[in-house]
Amino acid sequence: MPQGFLRDKIAVVTGASSGIGRATALELAKAGAHLVIASRRKMLLEELASEIEELGRDALVEVVDITEREQVERLISKVISHYGQIDILIVCAGVYYRSLVENLSLDIVDRSLAINFYGGLFTILAVLPHMRARNTGHIVLVSTMDTKLGLPGDGPYAIAKSALSSFVDVLRQELHETGVHTTIILPGRVDTAFIEDLKLPRGSMIISPQVVARTIVRSIKRRKAIVILPFLANVLYIIKVFSPRLADWIIRLLHMQGWEKEEVRSNSSGNSLVKEQIGD
Ligand SMILES: NC(=O)c1ccc[n+]([C@@H]2O[C@H](COP(=O)([O-])OP(=O)(O)OC[C@H]3O[C@@H](n4cnc5c(N)ncnc54)[C@H](OP(=O)(O)O)[C@@H]3O)[C@@H](O)[C@H]2O)c1
Repeated sequence: MPQGFLRDKIAVVTGASSGIGRATALELAKAGAHLVIASRRKMLLEELASEIEELGRDALVEVVDITEREQVERLISKVISHYGQIDILIVCAGVYYRSLVENLSLDIVDRSLAINFYGGLFTILAVLPHMRARNTGHIVLVSTMDTKLGLPGDGPYAIAKSALSSFVDVLRQELHETGVHTTIILPGRVDTAFIEDLKLPRGSMIISPQVVARTIVRSIKRRKAIVILPFLANVLYIIKVFSPRLADWIIRLLHMQGWEKEEVRSNSSGNSLVKEQIGD
């Protein structure tokens, strides 16, 4: 049985069926937590649940579309009646919507806001009263470096992620002197299905979802407010603070936004991704 610092804590992870959410659920289980794993693809969640149970922890599978507020509220009520508490919330579900601003449709902005902003907002608003009532808990938002260093083509995604990050930035300060803590994780590129349709320049810094997952668990332990990873992303961010044009030049030089050739495709999550001639 895991003896970690999260022993017998109850953790809810959205976007648990793949990538960072999946890796984080496993890392939390190794640290001793019981898991509630939520997303839309049941079969993937059930596979993950078996792996969590092999680690000696409970795993409750919940099929939820987090863009639907009633579904999110039902999920949280169910977890509270089952376990009586939520100690950790990982807000991880997300979809990468890209379009150049000159091709931007409001439809893609709306779809990005639905999952990348409202989905996270609904989840945090549903969990927060329970954490406040017990005056304990930790909310982790898996955001993106795009909120600090916007990349060309990432407009619809960055709008929504930035809005939710700003919300959690405010929340952290409002929760000052309470027992409820927040962490905003700002990863650069992570090797998941999220970026599978993107051709990235040679030498790009791509980290594994396991590295992000371990960082998340460490950040909970140390009650970190904001974490940027990998380390070199911090360097580029500091350059931007002092010289935004130099940072823009570096992004252009390295073509960090990558290349997207298709106009409309579907990714493996079945999410419609509109890709409107980004890159060459
Ligand atoms: N990969 C990167 O380069 C990168 C970089 C920075 C930040 N991030 C952030 O990391 C988070 C996780 O992304 P990832 O890289 O792990 O990508 P991923 O492997 O594609 O995972 C995305 C997750 O979101 C879930 N999801 C999507 N729409 C949903 C909905 N409407 N309701 C419930 N769940 C939904 C998916 O599950 P279902 O399809 O089963 O619903 C899946 O589990 C995202 O928030 C993303 O913004 C990723």
